[in-house]
Amino acid sequence: MESLDAVSSEIIDAIDIADSLDALEAIRIDALGKKGRISLMMRELGGMNAEDRRAAGQTLNRVKDDIATAIDAKQKILAAVVLNERLEAERLDVSLPSRPHTDARLHPLSRTIEEVIAIFAEMGFQVAEGPDIESDYYNFTALNIPPEHPARQEHDTFYLPADAEGGRKVLRTHTSPVQIRTMESQDPPIRIIVPGRTYRSDHDATHSPMFHQCEGLVIGDGIHMGHLKGCLIDFCRAFFGVDDLPVRFRPSYFPFTEPSAEVDIGCTRQNGALKIGAGDDWLEILGSGMVNPRVLENCGYDPEKYQGFAFGMGIERIAMLKYGIPDLRTFYDSDLRWMRHYGFLPFDAPSIHAGLSGGGI
Ligand code: DAH
Repeated sequence: MESLDAVSSEIIDAIDIADSLDALEAIRIDALGKKGRISLMMRELGGMNAEDRRAAGQTLNRVKDDIATAIDAKQKILAAVVLNERLEAERLDVSLPSRPHTDARLHPLSRTIEEVIAIFAEMGFQVAEGPDIESDYYNFTALNIPPEHPARQEHDTFYLPADAEGGRKVLRTHTSPVQIRTMESQDPPIRIIVPGRTYRSDHDATHSPMFHQCEGLVIGDGIHMGHLKGCLIDFCRAFFGVDDLPVRFRPSYFPFTEPSAEVDIGCTRQNGALKIGAGDDWLEILGSGMVNPRVLENCGYDPEKYQGFAFGMGIERIAMLKYGIPDLRTFYDSDLRWMRHYGFLPFDAPSIHAGLSGGGI
């Protein structure tokens, strides 16, 4: 066996002058690793007689402990040096201004849809949905717009290629088909609104090929024009936040309602600026009417038993009016500056209850 004292002091000296954690680890492996010098000496104990083995074993164990302790101590010192070097090198400048971060904004259309839903929800309406790709039957025929009816031309419909049977699907031109789908799948009483996408081949400052509407449908026993008026007056006043907003019902025509009325709200126009509220002018904001008995019959309802009213409005239009957005096309430009200006912080409480005086229908 090598002189243990010499080996031990050689290792301890090496530990002493080791100047990195890597160097120290190399020394540890060389001394205490599986094939390390001390480990090999341990193995040699096997060939000794019992007495020598005990004496040499004790000494070896002590030397091994001393070396392990020395390595441990040195490791702490070297680790502290490494940490200090890092702290020096990676000094943080806490005086640097933080990076600017912008809060995301809710699109005015999302906000408007949320407001409309909240107002009608308080009147007991539920939200219904239907497909954007619609059959000719639901989009037109069931709504009392038969083939060759002039209203079909007015809709600037996008037609999809004909299917095997020659039927052509359309991109729905209004949310009204969901009236039919709901009446087919539900029994009265019905009280739904249908916010959703609609499509027409039209593009200018107030039209976009894709836009949004919100349909409304109420069906029940003894529903009459008074219900329609009360419901829509309440809605207009709540949505625009004007308690005494004048609301006017103007006779009109839609194939799916009879009688039909267009709904106007009061406003003033001064030097090109529009103000919603009592004034000398009117602004059309939605279409409505009592559901045409033919439409009820198309859905298998007995018009003698059930009556109802329906309405439809353009979401972009009422958003433009409420929030003073002049050009409809800008809704879809994805311009972040526009979003910062017209968008909403998601946690802003919507001012939706301004004029909803309870009751409704
Ligand atoms: N569907 C009509 C349109 O696209 C809007 C409308 C008018 C819907 C009267 C209705 C209604 O439900 O009763 O312009």
